[in-house]
Amino acid sequence: MNSSTNSDAVQAAKAPCSEIPSHFSAHYKDYAYLPSWRKAPDNKLISLVDQKDYLEVVFERSSSEGSSSSHQVCHYSYDWLRDICRCDECFNIVTHNKQTAISLHPQRPKSIGISEDGDFVEISWDGGHDSRYPKSILLAEHLHAKEPRENDPVIDAQRQLWGSHLPESRFRKYEFDSLIADDHSLYDWLMDLRKTGLTFVKNAPRKPGQLTELCNRVAYPRLMCWGPTFQVEVKENASHVAYSNHPLPLHTDLAYYMFPAGVQFLHCIKQSSSGGQTHVADGFRAAEKIRQADPECFDLLTKTEWEYFDMGDDYVGAHHLQARHPVIRLDSRGRLERIVYSDHSRGWRQDTATSTSPAAYEALRKYSEYLNAEDSVLKYTLKEGDILVFDNFRVLHGRSKVDSGSARHLEGGYLDWDETCSKLRLLGRTLYS
Ligand SMILES: [Fe+2]
Ligand SMILES: [Zn+2]
Repeated sequence: MNSSTNSDAVQAAKAPCSEIPSHFSAHYKDYAYLPSWRKAPDNKLISLVDQKDYLEVVFERSSSEGSSSSHQVCHYSYDWLRDICRCDECFNIVTHNKQTAISLHPQRPKSIGISEDGDFVEISWDGGHDSRYPKSILLAEHLHAKEPRENDPVIDAQRQLWGSHLPESRFRKYEFDSLIADDHSLYDWLMDLRKTGLTFVKNAPRKPGQLTELCNRVAYPRLMCWGPTFQVEVKENASHVAYSNHPLPLHTDLAYYMFPAGVQFLHCIKQSSSGGQTHVADGFRAAEKIRQADPECFDLLTKTEWEYFDMGDDYVGAHHLQARHPVIRLDSRGRLERIVYSDHSRGWRQDTATSTSPAAYEALRKYSEYLNAEDSVLKYTLKEGDILVFDNFRVLHGRSKVDSGSARHLEGGYLDWDETCSKLRLLGRTLYS
């Protein structure tokens, strides 16, 4: 599982930054951390051909590419070219925002050409606007365009599925102190979290407040109705099932939020002498297994929305949270994006007719079977000082019954994926470019 340090993103990012042409890097700062940018060969611009809706650009390949063809022919739509113009009128390099509305864009060029130094494609548009495009941007863009647009090493990081055949010992361990002190460790850990969805941090001080420190290294804790962090202890008159001594079946947290937090932390401050074993399972693996074995069931799990709710009185006062989610959410390319599954938070009022159909319940049961299968659930007794960090959009967690009267104490907290991915990009740029 420990492949994060060998990731494409890290390898590519170690290339020297001198490959980023300095004279326009400010205008293309958001491109500058992309690995494909750094891999782009320095091919020579040869000729341009106006192909109706597209501009055809012909490059001469550098000999280092080792291709049988001496020419590389690329196509770029005029819509896209006009959209990405980064002249001072179209783009503000201080705010990094586009300044023109797409409705104002003419789609046809009046003239096309190559700059005298051979480094830019120049287009004069109908309506009198001039744009110029560095050849490096065009080459880099063509590199991602050849395949599905997996152009972000963070969002598109290759997910590594796991089951109980990968015991806890096979997961890489991260020392709390080194995550606090060292940016390389922080980068490796966060990329590992993105790819595997489950990480183990060791030897945190055994007192509350450590999660906040760790979250602050990444961004800031997400405030939920339970507070910036929450204490999982066996309490009389518990305000939530997590605070009772009951066993908890596998679930994702915060299903009753329309925007649940994406990254979850559980810090073991005090462990019980018996009971309270932590269970985790890879919800993406279970989903992929169903996709293969029973496409109809998979389809139902992506289309049936279930309603979740939570009512109570906690850190922020009274709350009544309610949200709807399918069990499996896909992105526009059919890749798994998010799992939301929580038996204990599912409401009795369901909004659509399909949610309560026998087929919908059967699909729910089937997903639960795959999730709870022998080869799926990893069981681990957290040691004092451990922090379990996992992807709440993917990894389901639960626990066995806790002894009543136990002094078991976990502190929990959350981060958002947006902030976590942002930190990964910033670290990638400063450490490896
Ligand atoms: Fe939970
Ligand atoms: Zn412009």
